Amino acid sequence: MSGLINRIKMIRLIAVLGFVFSGVFSSVSIAETVMITGANAGIGFEFATQYAAKGWGVIAIHRRDTPPVSLLELQAEYPKVSIEYMDITLLDTVRALGAKLAGQPIDVLLNNAGYAGNFSGPSQALGTLDYDAFDTIMRTNGVGALAVSEAFIDNVKSSDRKVIVAMSSNLASFGAGPPTGGGYFYRMSKAALHMVLITLSKDLKEDGVIVAAINPGVVWSQKNLDHGHLAEDQMVKVDIAVGGLINTIDNMTMEDSGWLVNYKAERGVW
Ligand SMILES: NC(=O)c1ccc[n+]([C@@H]2O[C@H](COP(=O)([O-])OP(=O)(O)OC[C@H]3O[C@@H](n4cnc5c(N)ncnc54)[C@H](OP(=O)(O)O)[C@@H]3O)[C@@H](O)[C@H]2O)c1
Repeated sequence: MSGLINRIKMIRLIAVLGFVFSGVFSSVSIAETVMITGANAGIGFEFATQYAAKGWGVIAIHRRDTPPVSLLELQAEYPKVSIEYMDITLLDTVRALGAKLAGQPIDVLLNNAGYAGNFSGPSQALGTLDYDAFDTIMRTNGVGALAVSEAFIDNVKSSDRKVIVAMSSNLASFGAGPPTGGGYFYRMSKAALHMVLITLSKDLKEDGVIVAAINPGVVWSQKNLDHGHLAEDQMVKVDIAVGGLINTIDNMTMEDSGWLVNYKAERGVW
């Protein structure tokens, strides 16, 4: 009789432990990986830092001749950070990294690298437009994000999360309407990026890949203060913007594919 009671107690204990451990493990993310372009500075570095602190594997991309100190220091603190070179405007380097990382799942491909040129300066102002400046801006913001997405699409498809996002801006939103003039080339390049993302979302729907534009808001920086378009209190601190965007990305579903969302998880207009 006491043997039977002990067996029942043991079965109950196993059931309780199973329940407790399933709860623990369901809240722990296992081996998720994000690839971030332009990870050495600005918003990209904040993304790399916050994802690393969450325990994710971070493939941190830079385009410098030698690995930037910012990323080396991050790697020293978080060994799951790997540092890779890729200039998103140079197709050879994009393809070389694609070949090097073949077979490695990438849960979130974060097209962060961007180039605004002299957004508020004469090179992007009506009457003094410098058409030579357009090429680098478009190659980076529009074509670069497409080339990177194409090169790593199999990595994303083979992951659990299957997300491709790119950094966008209200400055390129037709619906929001430009609050001011100027900045032609940056606006045009991000508008082109929007079309890249919408088209990718159609091409990759059957594969279950979520593709979205993410908007950090106007992030507090000396550069943005110097532009003088917005007062300091209308800008968002980089850690808040990035924390909000990571949360937004974490909660994305196929319903969000083909949309633009901001750091508060609100949908914007294209
Ligand atoms: N700041 C804002 O308020 C704001 C608002 C809306 C959207 N965004 C977008 O958010 C993204 C990050 O902005 P940010 O303010 O952090 O810019 P940032 O400080 O200028 O940093 C841009 C990053 O992109 C890298 N990069 C530029 N061209 C590249 C290339 N050809 N190949 C590889 N990497 C390249 C830069 O590398 P180097 O350090 O070597 O130059 C740097 O790491 C951009 O796409 C931007 O358009 C920013």
